[in-house]
Amino acid sequence: MNARKIELGDADALVLFGATGDLAKKKLFPALYSMAVNDSLQCPVVGVASTKWNHEQFTAHALEAIKVAFPNPDPAILTRLDEELTLVVGNYEDSKLYEDLAAVLKDKQCPVIYLAIPPAFFGNVTQGLAKVGLTERCRLVVEKPFGRDLHSAIALQEVLETVLPEERIYRIDHYLGKESVEDILIFRFANSIWEPLWNHRYINSIQITMAEDFGVEGRGAFYDGVGAIRDVVQNHLLQVLALIAMEPPSDLTSKTMEDEKLKVFRAIAALKPENVVRGQYVGYLDEAGVAPGSTTETYAAATMFVDNWRWSGVPFYLRTGKNLEETTLEVIIEFKQPPRLLFAEGQEGAANLLRFRLGKSDGVDIELQAKSPGDHLKTEPVKLTVNFSAALGERQEAYERLLRAAMAGDHKRFTHIDSVLETWRIVEGVINNEPHLSPYFKGTWGPERADELPHHGWLEL
Ligand code: BG6
Repeated sequence: MNARKIELGDADALVLFGATGDLAKKKLFPALYSMAVNDSLQCPVVGVASTKWNHEQFTAHALEAIKVAFPNPDPAILTRLDEELTLVVGNYEDSKLYEDLAAVLKDKQCPVIYLAIPPAFFGNVTQGLAKVGLTERCRLVVEKPFGRDLHSAIALQEVLETVLPEERIYRIDHYLGKESVEDILIFRFANSIWEPLWNHRYINSIQITMAEDFGVEGRGAFYDGVGAIRDVVQNHLLQVLALIAMEPPSDLTSKTMEDEKLKVFRAIAALKPENVVRGQYVGYLDEAGVAPGSTTETYAAATMFVDNWRWSGVPFYLRTGKNLEETTLEVIIEFKQPPRLLFAEGQEGAANLLRFRLGKSDGVDIELQAKSPGDHLKTEPVKLTVNFSAALGERQEAYERLLRAAMAGDHKRFTHIDSVLETWRIVEGVINNEPHLSPYFKGTWGPERADELPHHGWLEL
């Protein structure tokens, strides 16, 4: 069966599968509130859940979730949201649930259906939607992870593409919704000063760090079947890498952007166990939902190369972990040293660094050498810092931007199946053939073995 191609306009309903779950509570309801505040939520919101709540329980839960993110919400907006929300309850494997949903959506031409549910349900739910005709006219938003390896991602895609064309599938990687991550594009391609330097002739290494100073936070049962490589390396970190490494796109359409990112992924060889360090924090096995003796990694570090002309020989070091010393999301570009160290004293080992801070208070830092005070010609590093929210105003939250994009039919902030399969290919060799697992203590920077990956250690700025 070929999925039908039709032109759809703006969404006229938003359906949230997993409406009583964690993602809805932490991210989606606050995003709906922000959309209502800026008047970009123009349609009813239908929650779908297996939890047997009534309307009052559901709306009270949603409003509570909003108040956690916005302690002083506007009462008029809350009343409006309360009126927009309805809940359809049922078992995801029972056809009655889909019939009930179809009845609620019978007048809707273009619902957006968001699957904020465990990936194991994606296939069945999509088929349930297809049986009642909803896949004929909906846009389907699928949370990550899309599959758990190359094979399962292909299998899931086969299920989806029999009922929906690629143009109506929106795969979430919420990092693509972060303004700070999009800023990498602006930084690189709206400022011509960087391009001459952006290659192996001037860059020594690139380090991408996503560290969290908290653990699995009640998500033990989910996380234990996933681990750091599947949870964030295959998606968030590789997407950031692609934005750093890609060639300038000729335009900003999703197709052109996707083509450029795909070229980067294709130039990365499949990871080998010797290029990866896996770690697990001490105490992980006591977390609720974690299997006894689990060997799931809560830390991963990897070295990879983008084997093309621009990046030949430049190592990209990626690391991520739970319960590390601090929470940070950053990319550090380490430039090469000057060819001759004229002011050798103090300058040894002090190359220029450029850091993208992509987490909270995002911005950019550049470390330069300056003359140190005194009767000598010695250098001393100084830092130029820009904080974008202080300079430009507050950023929007990623999920608000993603929901709006899906509802408007804009694919740019979503991942295409080709990239998803390429990124699974890159990590495949270390998820099916797991490298040694090293323990690390909470509040540290992970297993010491990971320090052996970068030639000059993990950089700080
Ligand atoms: C999610 C992961 O995709 O991203 C979580 O499943 C992780 O484990 C989260 O904590 C981090 O997102 P952010 O936006 O806080 O960097």
